[in-house]
Amino acid sequence: MKPRTRQRVRRGLTVGVVTAALAGALALVMVWERGPVTVQVWVPDLSAEALGGKQAFDRRCVQCHGADARGSPIGPPLVHSTYQPRHHADVSFTLAVRRGVQAHHWRFGSMPPQPEVTAAEVEQITRYVRELQRANGIH
Ligand code: HEC
Repeated sequence: MKPRTRQRVRRGLTVGVVTAALAGALALVMVWERGPVTVQVWVPDLSAEALGGKQAFDRRCVQCHGADARGSPIGPPLVHSTYQPRHHADVSFTLAVRRGVQAHHWRFGSMPPQPEVTAAEVEQITRYVRELQRANGIH
């Protein structure tokens, strides 16, 4: 290989490696940057229990999880495949309210415990979110 050709090949390789590194970094940022996220939520006719849950949700959870659990600039949507019953069983609602949640799925920071929310309210809120999820194709 002529020295000139070798130089050109080396330059080509450098450009390739730098481009790949930049693309990799961008992909990482896109995966890591999972917030703020809001989703479209279609609201079905709710059962009486879920309506009670909506009231409690609108008092206690809406400021972070958004109207209809659509998400907000400071908290994730709960009507989201991440929170389908298979991934987060009903008990995760009780645990989230009692113990809070260490940030692990998103970049909103941690959820503080909500000690003023009663067990009955958590049950109704869970029902409410499940009915919203089901109506929006999240089973
Ligand atoms: C101060 C803001 C804030 C409030 C108020 C709040 N949450 Fe959260 N919640 C969050 C954030 C942020 C996360 C996501 C943490 C993560 O996984 O990154 C979260 C996650 C959750 C989760 C997922 C738990 C898990 O196991 O991953 C549930 C369920 C939940 N919240 C329910 C509720 C309910 C019910 C209420 C109202 C009683 C409520 N939250 C009020 C901020 C809040």
